[in-house]
Amino acid sequence: MKNIFAIVLVFLLPVGAYSAPQGDKLYAQNCAACHGENGRGGVGVPLALASFLDSVSDRYLFETIRQGRPGRIMPAFEEMSDAQVDAIVAYMRAWSKNKAPVYPLDLVKGNSSNGKKLYAQHCASCHGADATGGSGTGVTFSRPRDLPIIAPSLANPGFLASASDAMIKHTLINGREGTPMNSFARQGMSEKQLNDIVAYIRSLQAVETEQKKKEILSAYIKYESSEPIEETLKALKAAAMGANFRIIREQNFEQGYVEKGKEDRKKIILYFCNFNMLNKALAIDPRVGLFLPCRVTLIEREGKVSMITVNPAAMSKKFNNSELDKLCDEMSGMYREILEEAAL
Ligand code: HEC
Ligand code: HEC
Repeated sequence: MKNIFAIVLVFLLPVGAYSAPQGDKLYAQNCAACHGENGRGGVGVPLALASFLDSVSDRYLFETIRQGRPGRIMPAFEEMSDAQVDAIVAYMRAWSKNKAPVYPLDLVKGNSSNGKKLYAQHCASCHGADATGGSGTGVTFSRPRDLPIIAPSLANPGFLASASDAMIKHTLINGREGTPMNSFARQGMSEKQLNDIVAYIRSLQAVETEQKKKEILSAYIKYESSEPIEETLKALKAAAMGANFRIIREQNFEQGYVEKGKEDRKKIILYFCNFNMLNKALAIDPRVGLFLPCRVTLIEREGKVSMITVNPAAMSKKFNNSELDKLCDEMSGMYREILEEAAL
């Protein structure tokens, strides 16, 4: 009887595995690190506020998750199935008692050059002169900031692709209670002025989508030395220390796999780190832990020693964050100088 039960279970299990995706789990895995476990915010803006949820459509949430906010840390979740994205949206929706609004997709007609002037007067101080957002993001306090919630980028292609004009207008009219975003209707803005601002924000879309394509960068940096591996290792350590990096440790490639002392000394990994840079990078995006601290692999083959490391600039491109790109470009430059010097 027990056996039959087990067999039936085996047949049932795969069905269970393919059943509806679970929004709570998906949210915990993909979003909580930035937006907080209960949507209270972090590196990302708060998502659980009623004033936010009640002013955005499910379509807006869906597209925001799909498209991310390029250059503003929020990744594009392109690999998720529609069902998975829907499940996350439904999970977030349950944070508010109210029903999701549905907006018409028509464009609001307005005078964008007048809107531009109004924007400079009323919005630029928080959303930035060019509408690319305040400095920093979300609500974390890892860096100095001028607002409890940093104003998002409105010129962002991910935002503009997700937001309808009607949703933008709704946000201007109502503000977002519990955030620094105030109601401009209550401050006396006329319908025409509101329309002009919406037209201006929409006009930024074309500008942004023409932005330069991302460079294609090699995933790794590699230099060769004609000195034996022990000499090269010494030179590499000296070059790293000379560039203000601390040596963390060296490790035989086979350490832990073969008997101690019998490891192949022709394959070594050296870890080094500049803690100042590491902390800066971690504050921008904790996922840099995937490729930091620096590790260089040294391999001797046929009298030639190769030194290979991950290219931080190429890794950073995957994170959708221009601030991180800048730091990682700098890091790649330093890695190159260190490896080049060690190769001499
Ligand atoms: C005092 C700072 C401040 C000012 C001034 C301000 N905003 Fe905001 N705005 C914010 C913040 C902070 C948010 C994010 C609110 C949240 O977390 O839900 C926001 C959100 C928005 C959003 C929604 C964006 C999104 O990604 O959800 C729009 C649209 C917007 N603001 C437009 C404007 C416009 C247009 C003006 C000028 C008429 C303006 N804001 C003035 C701080 C400000
Ligand atoms: C690496 C950090 C990060 C992750 C992971 C992340 N986000 Fe975001 N998210 C952000 C940031 C930062 C912003 C604000 C962008 C800005 O400031 O311009 C944002 C904005 C948003 C917005 C727009 C909020 C608004 O006020 O209009 C939504 C919705 C959102 N994220 C949902 C999600 C969901 C759902 C997930 C998981 C599937 C997710 N995010 C994962 C960082 C992140």
